[in-house]
Amino acid sequence: MSKKILIGVAWPYVNGDLHLGHLAGYLLPADIFARYQRMLGNDCVMVSGSDCHGTPITVAADKEKISPTEIIEEYHVKDVELFKLYGLSYNLYTKTTTENHKKIVQEMFLDLLKNGYIVKGTMRQYYSETESKFLPDRYVEGECPHCHAKNQRSDQCEACGRWLEDGELIDPVSKNTLTPVILKDTEHYFLDLEKFTPELTKYVDSKRGIWRDWVYKEASSWLKEGLKKRAITRDMDWSIDLPIEELMKLPQEMQLSNYTGKKIYVWFEAVIGYLSATVEWESIQKGTEYSEGIFYKQVGQVVGWKDYWLNPECEIYNFMGQDNLVFHTLMWPAQLIGSNKGYTLPHNVVVNKFMNLEGKKFSKSRNWTIDSKKIAENYGVDLVRYYVSANFPENKEGDFTWASFIAGVNNELVANLGNYINRTLKFLENKYQGKLSIDGINVDEQIKNQIDSTYIKMGEYLSKCQFVNALNELMSLSKFANKYFDEQKIWIKINEDPESARTVLLNLLNIVENLGVLMSPFLPSSSEKLFKMLDKDLPKPILEKNMWLSVYSNSYMLNGTVEVLFNKLDPAIVLEKKDN
Ligand code: MF3
Ligand code: ZN
Repeated sequence: MSKKILIGVAWPYVNGDLHLGHLAGYLLPADIFARYQRMLGNDCVMVSGSDCHGTPITVAADKEKISPTEIIEEYHVKDVELFKLYGLSYNLYTKTTTENHKKIVQEMFLDLLKNGYIVKGTMRQYYSETESKFLPDRYVEGECPHCHAKNQRSDQCEACGRWLEDGELIDPVSKNTLTPVILKDTEHYFLDLEKFTPELTKYVDSKRGIWRDWVYKEASSWLKEGLKKRAITRDMDWSIDLPIEELMKLPQEMQLSNYTGKKIYVWFEAVIGYLSATVEWESIQKGTEYSEGIFYKQVGQVVGWKDYWLNPECEIYNFMGQDNLVFHTLMWPAQLIGSNKGYTLPHNVVVNKFMNLEGKKFSKSRNWTIDSKKIAENYGVDLVRYYVSANFPENKEGDFTWASFIAGVNNELVANLGNYINRTLKFLENKYQGKLSIDGINVDEQIKNQIDSTYIKMGEYLSKCQFVNALNELMSLSKFANKYFDEQKIWIKINEDPESARTVLLNLLNIVENLGVLMSPFLPSSSEKLFKMLDKDLPKPILEKNMWLSVYSNSYMLNGTVEVLFNKLDPAIVLEKKDN
């Protein structure tokens, strides 16, 4: 029986180009995981979309002097193109601006309110007298009261990662006018996180050994610090509306005295996208609705959202960068629990730390960034997929350096994996006219053991989302294979003992083919290219059919001429291109 797997990838704000840090943080890990799950024959749905609301969007729109809608149009299309370029296999990539999403957000809001988990409260919010309006989080900047970093946003300090309440920032000013802002009372809805403490504690405790250790520890320490009520509405105009008509029907004590200018907070609604996108994906299956999302459909797959969200057997995985940790480990589970509908809670919250660039944080505004489209176009998608995966910042911050990119690609990917595949196929091409067929002789036991145990070890690492370790196993098999090639001296054997040379080559070719399967989650297009050269189809995932298994063959035949899979990087060219 196949497992139900739902992969919810963090929804990137659709307000600028995605850089390599986004790929390293969550986009590539999620795709590798999805591809692996599908190979296992599991019923895996991967959803996400553009995060379209809140101040991250309006701030960027203001800067470009265009409307939020325009900025969404511009970057949603760009993001989708980038994902296609990188082969990210979303089943659905949608947006938070759909009617479907809005409806589900409003429903969850009402459920939580009726269940007593959303409460009214008054808070003091920053008000700009110069502009005569309340200013949302990112429009106010000042000094962090905890770590004293300057120019921090009023909702979260980027330097130390802590949440800030209005009033905590030192010397706050309006970002628009740079004039000081004051605090003024305003009425809002709050998610009463404190009420969830016992259940969240139980939940987080059950994740010890499943979540990465540092993720588990960080979530636990938030819990220990004590959870506070968190405002989930804002005075602003660009976000999802409150369900006012429904609210009006509720008892007075659940209502605000005035709804004008109040919207749902972006973080409260964006996470609900995991659920709403699954619902949307189901309606697409039935042909009733279609948004322009990227599509991938596994053979045999039929999706009903309830099979994932109301099914305790379903495993939900979320992928994100470290700044999203608290929302996914505590706030989103609280929303799901409080809805009281029996929703499945995330099984693994897979968080990566940040990847830096030559020792400094990626920053588009300071032009310290890598254009993820250009680097793929210049050197090939799989070269980038390889290097980034080998250096995923799973447990500590990572660092992209051009020197290590060149070294990693040339010394590992090309010199080890690429070289092995190439020399083996070339040998078949040059010495055997591209054909080898042996009756009744099986692959060496020792070789089989190496291959079989690589499937097992990589599989264990992949299922725990330890991608760096999994990739290392792939490279070890290839290293073993290169050594075997050298030791067997097949180029001598072919003259002295042709029979045994053929047996050795069969072993070598079987390793090639299995490397092709094993590399497919990481390097999908190279894997496909390799299978084409072998005149075979890359095993296409089929529901209920485990394809994460070794394949052995007694005959090989090349289709056309052998081509190299990975090209060596010329340091001079890379270093010259890096600044353009
Ligand atoms: N847009 C957020 C970010 O870029 C991530 C939102 S993840 C979601 O940090 F699930 F809430 F959508
Ligand atoms: Zn700080």
